[in-house]
Amino acid sequence: MIIRKSKREIDIMSKANSIVAETHEFLSEKIEPGISTYDLDKLAEEFIENKGGKPSFKGYRGYPASVCLSINDEVVHGIPSKTRVLEKGMILSVDIGVYYKGFHGDAARTFPVGKISQEAKSLIEVTRKALDKGIENAIIGNRLTDISNAVQIHVENAGCSVVRDYVGHGIGTDMHEDPQIPNFGPAGRGPRLKEGMTLAIEPMVNIGHYNVKTKDDGWTVVTEDGSLSAHWEDSIAITKEGPKILSRL
Ligand code: MF3
Ligand code: CO
Repeated sequence: MIIRKSKREIDIMSKANSIVAETHEFLSEKIEPGISTYDLDKLAEEFIENKGGKPSFKGYRGYPASVCLSINDEVVHGIPSKTRVLEKGMILSVDIGVYYKGFHGDAARTFPVGKISQEAKSLIEVTRKALDKGIENAIIGNRLTDISNAVQIHVENAGCSVVRDYVGHGIGTDMHEDPQIPNFGPAGRGPRLKEGMTLAIEPMVNIGHYNVKTKDDGWTVVTEDGSLSAHWEDSIAITKEGPKILSRL
């Protein structure tokens, strides 16, 4: 069942997501060669708590940290660690969830660490743009998979592949609500999009094949072929005026 939110509820979600966006901005300034993902996680946790929020991911199904930090071929759910130290040329996907006044916000960005390859730069750009294409289709009257298809078309036209095993989701009082939002598949399927739906759209894009696997830590998802992967996510609300992006400043 898809839970639609009132204007008042969307206002609270907007606040939760603005803490997410501020945390992204704050953390992005700390990303440089030599810092560990452990340190970034601690900085994020402190920042979120100072804003009156709680990190949504901490303790979720036993997740041991506050944010997810995924390097290079890590797709999502990378666990921060003192031994994971950033080096120039890496790409870092930062996924942040914040719980605030009963609602969740959720957004991800992929950042370069120092100077990166042209290939890595275009992967990041393709993924960011694919998210925008998905969001553009989150309008009243469209069907759910119009979002999915728009993402897939953009990614595949650019010669990259879109991860199948993980999907976007509805978001609200629960971090994961209905519907699931795949980043691939034919358009024109699934429920019609309606005012008040709140969705986290999150393409995960690989340079190589879309197959992924989970490492022995039980969390870190990596590309099967070792190719680079990027992740962009925003939480949005569907309104009469079009998609309202809640997780951008
Ligand atoms: N943004 C991710 C999601 O939508 C975050 C989940 S990480 C977890 O599912 F640790 F909380 F599982
Ligand atoms: Co999400």
